[in-house]
Amino acid sequence: MADQYVQSGEDKRPSGIPAIRWDEPPEGPVLVLLDQTRLPAEEVELVCTDAPALVEAIRSLAVRGAPLLGIAGAYGVALAAARGFDVDEAATALAGARPTAVNLAVGVRRARSAYLAELAKSGDAGRAAEAALAAARALHQEDAEASARMAEHGMALLEELLPGGGHRILTHCNTGSLVSGGEGTAFAVALTAHRVGQLRRLWVDETRPLLQGARLTAYEAARNGMAYTLLTDGAAGSLFSAGEVDAVLIGADRIAADGSVANKVGSYPLAVLARYHHVPFIVVAPVTTIDPDTPDGASIEVEQRPGHEVTEVTAPQVPVAGAEAGGGIPVAPLGTQAYNPAFDVTPPELVTAIVTEEGVVSPVTAEALTELCARSSQV
Ligand code: MRU
Repeated sequence: MADQYVQSGEDKRPSGIPAIRWDEPPEGPVLVLLDQTRLPAEEVELVCTDAPALVEAIRSLAVRGAPLLGIAGAYGVALAAARGFDVDEAATALAGARPTAVNLAVGVRRARSAYLAELAKSGDAGRAAEAALAAARALHQEDAEASARMAEHGMALLEELLPGGGHRILTHCNTGSLVSGGEGTAFAVALTAHRVGQLRRLWVDETRPLLQGARLTAYEAARNGMAYTLLTDGAAGSLFSAGEVDAVLIGADRIAADGSVANKVGSYPLAVLARYHHVPFIVVAPVTTIDPDTPDGASIEVEQRPGHEVTEVTAPQVPVAGAEAGGGIPVAPLGTQAYNPAFDVTPPELVTAIVTEEGVVSPVTAEALTELCARSSQV
């Protein structure tokens, strides 16, 4: 099913195809992904029949974004269990597919624990597989609910920080329905502002090198009829100095216990710019993204991606036959080395607030985050 990139009006979902779904055709259970490497040109489904295929989809960013990685990881364990593969082997491979977004390991752990608990109780592998699937489905549903609550809390915060509305919001990477069981994290807040007539403009960083902003956030903004403008990442500074940004809203891949925020590379420079220009820098993420076991920013493992993502420009849906490495168009001299961390870490002192489904933490301190996590685990 292909759907050309169009600026359509209001639309409940950003595309006709959900980002992820479980299906049970006669040949056996499968996990169906909307292949995000093909967007915005085509809406193409990618069908995974086993964990190795899902690991590859995660590494290639066909499925991506912290909350969705958690959901995918949980379904991946359920898939391995339902098809009779080695669940521990699948869980290890899935949890290690990408290192930074803690949600991935959390989702895998949750489904694996459900599987093991049922196996220990009943000794029945079929029932254990059902328990893993139920856990994945519950996580999927909870993420949708968390997304709605983050949007509410985030909107209330915007109203408090920026009374009068007419917000001009700058965002980075992609944080909408494509990364969530619901409408996302930071993007869901911007979408709420749009729906209540309070969004003047969504500034969308293109997000080099893989262009999640240009390809995915612009796609979601267009599908929702939002007023948006795309910019190169390097243009953000001049936008701030022109007084055109009222707030920065981003998501997170992992929040350390001290409040350090790992997110798509390019987020930290925005935090520095925001502080210099006295603009709120707001992080929106579910509680599952907070990792009490990671004490500080320096302890967060930042994924390093292949250099060819930088030395080549890749239109992901159009592989170039015969090109080296990543199949893109080389733009740097042959043999150029590239520095390509997928994420960077923003220290807590540059973060105005962290918005979660359980409420807002501001100022961002280790104590406040511990308190929030304790409250959330009691629910
Ligand atoms: O490498 P990606 O595309 O998986 O990176 C995604 C991001 O950095 C998002 O901003 C983050 O996961 C937050 S999504 C709610």
